[in-house]
Amino acid sequence: MTNSTTKFLLLLLLPTFLLIIFFYSYFFNQNNFNFNPTLNKLLKPPSNPSINISNQLDNNNHVRLRHNISFFTLLKKKLEKKEKKKKKKKKSNLEKLEEGLARARAAIREAARTRNYTLKEEVTTFIPRGSVYRNPHAFHQSHIEMIKRLKIWTYKEGEQPLVHHGPLSNIYGVEGQFIEEMEGKTTSNKFMARHPDEAHIFFLPFSVAKTVQFLYRPLVSYNRGPLHRVALDYVNVVAMKYPYWNASHGADHFMVSCHDWAPDISDADPKLFKNLIRALCNANSSEGFQPMRDVSIPEIKIPVGKLCPPSLGLRISKRQIFAFFAGGNHGHVRTYLFEHWKEKKDEDIQVYEYLPKNLNYFQMLGQSKFCLCPSGYEVASPRIVEAIHAECVPVIIKDNYSFPFNDVLDWSEFSIHIPVAKIPEIKTILKGISFKDYLKLVKGVRSVKWHFTLNRPSKPFDLIHMMLHSIWLRRLDIILPYQ
Ligand SMILES: *[C@@H]1O[C@H](CO)[C@@H](O)[C@H](O)[C@H]1NC(C)=O
Ligand SMILES: *[C@@H]1O[C@H](CO)[C@@H](O)[C@H](O)[C@H]1NC(C)=O
Ligand SMILES: *[C@@H]1O[C@H](CO)[C@@H](O)[C@H](O)[C@H]1NC(C)=O
Ligand SMILES: *[C@@H]1O[C@H](CO)[C@@H](O)[C@H](O)[C@H]1NC(C)=O
Ligand SMILES: *[C@@H]1O[C@H](CO)[C@@H](O)[C@H](O)[C@H]1NC(C)=O
Ligand SMILES: *[C@@H]1O[C@H](CO)[C@@H](O)[C@H](O)[C@H]1NC(C)=O
Repeated sequence: MTNSTTKFLLLLLLPTFLLIIFFYSYFFNQNNFNFNPTLNKLLKPPSNPSINISNQLDNNNHVRLRHNISFFTLLKKKLEKKEKKKKKKKKSNLEKLEEGLARARAAIREAARTRNYTLKEEVTTFIPRGSVYRNPHAFHQSHIEMIKRLKIWTYKEGEQPLVHHGPLSNIYGVEGQFIEEMEGKTTSNKFMARHPDEAHIFFLPFSVAKTVQFLYRPLVSYNRGPLHRVALDYVNVVAMKYPYWNASHGADHFMVSCHDWAPDISDADPKLFKNLIRALCNANSSEGFQPMRDVSIPEIKIPVGKLCPPSLGLRISKRQIFAFFAGGNHGHVRTYLFEHWKEKKDEDIQVYEYLPKNLNYFQMLGQSKFCLCPSGYEVASPRIVEAIHAECVPVIIKDNYSFPFNDVLDWSEFSIHIPVAKIPEIKTILKGISFKDYLKLVKGVRSVKWHFTLNRPSKPFDLIHMMLHSIWLRRLDIILPYQ
C-alpha cells in the first residue's frame, strides 16, 4: 500500500470508529442511566445533570461505574468538573469574603468560650492581658483574624488637596496620618486590597479638615453647604461607578476625620449616609454619634515631624502634683472648671488657663498623679492621649462622649470618669481613691499606652491597628447578602 492509501483509509476509519464508540456509549448509558446525550447537550451540560451520580455511588453500582467508564461518561465527568470549577469561580467574591468573615466570627467566639490564646499562630509579640480588656482572648483572636484577613479598598477617585491627603500634625493630624497609611504612599500597607472585589471594607479618603481649610478660606461662614457637597459628590461618584456602595447601602464603607465638623457631613443626606461607618474624634452621642455603627478615635496633638506627644512621666513616688490641667477657656465645660478650680484656689487641684512661661506642659503632666481631661469646644481633646503617654491617670470630664476603643477596652480600669455636673466634687472624688486602686490605674495606663501610640508604618495593636480593629468589628457585625 502506498502512503496516501493508508492516509485515506485512516481518514475514513477514524470517524467510523468514533461513531461506533458514540453509539456504543449511547446505548450503554441509556441502559444504565436515565440519560439521553446528544453532542450538543454534552458540550452544554444541563444545569441540573440528569445523571444521579451521587445516587449511583450510594448503591452497589459504584464498582461498575468505576470500571466500565465510557468515553462519554469520561467526557461528561470532565465537563462537570469544569462546570463545578466555573461555579466555584462564580461563587461570588462577596460569598467568599463572607465565608472568611464567618470563620473569623467562629474563631473569636471560640476564643471567648475557651479563654484560650491561639499561640501557635503567633502573629504578634504583643499579647493583650489583664483587666483593661473586656475579653483579652476574644480581642486577641479578633485582632489576629483581622491581620490575617482584612482587605480594604481605598477609592482612587478625587484629587488633592481635598482627597488623598490630610493634615499630618496638630490636633487633626490623625486624619492625615491615617489617610496616608491607607494609601500606602510612604509605607507599604498589608491591608490594601489589590482589587475592590477582594475588599471587606471601602475607605472614602476625603479629608474634612482639608475641605474646611481650603473651601472656607478665609473662614467667614460656618455654613456647612460646601462641606456637604464634597462628601455628597464623592459618595455619588463612587456609587455610580462601582457596585459596592449600592450593594451594602454604604454599610461597609467608612470615613475618618478628627475635625469638629466631621459628624455634620451626614446631614448632607441622612438617608444616604444612614449606614456609613464614621470614625470620628468628635464622638458626641448627643450630636448623632452612634456607638454601634460609628467608631470613636483618639485625638492627638501630633508634634510637627513626630508621631506622638512626649513621654516625660516620672516614677510614682516623684510625682508632686496631685491633679493638673492647663488649657484655654474653650466651651462651657472649661468655664465651669475654671470657676471652681482655676489658679491655685486649691494646692491639690492645679488648674491653669495659661501655663506660666517657666513651666513645661509635658513635664507637668509627667509630675502629676491625675491629669484632668475636660471637653473643649467639642467632646474630644488631645489630653487623654497626652496623659496616657505621661503615665498620668486621665480624669475624663465629659458628658455624652463615646470612649475610643470602648468595644475592647474597659476604661474604668485605667481612667476616672467624672460627669461635668460633678466638677465641684473633683477633689473629693479623687481623694477617695485608695493608693492600691491608684497603682492599679497606673498599671492600666501603662498597659494601654501602646494602643494610643502612632507608628508609621502601623504595627499590630497600635493606634492605627486599633482604629482598623474598631472598623473591622463593625464589619463583622453585618452580613451582606450575596447570590
Ligand atoms: C435523582 O435522585 C433523586 C433522589 O433520589 C430523585 O428524586 C430524582 O428523581 C433523581 N433524578 C433522576 C434524573 O434520576
Ligand atoms: C462492565 O460492563 C459489562 C457489561 O455491561 C459487564 O459484563 C462487566 O462485568 C463490567 N465490568 C466491570 C469491571 O464491572
Ligand atoms: C488551649 O490551647 C492549648 C494549645 O492550643 C491546648 O493544648 C489547650 O487544651 C487549650 N485549652 C482549652 C481550655 O481549650
Ligand atoms: C446606585 O444607586 C444610585 C441611586 O439609586 C444610582 O444612580 C446608581 O446608578 C447606582 N449605581 C450603580 C453602579 O448601579
Ligand atoms: C448627655 O449627657 C447628659 C448629662 O450627663 C445626659 O443627661 C443626657 O442623657 C446625655 N445624652 C445622651 C444622648 O446620651
Ligand atoms: C455635644 O453635643 C451637644 C448637642 O449638639 C452639645 O449641646 C454639647 O455641647 C456637645 N458637647 C460638647 C462637649 O461640645
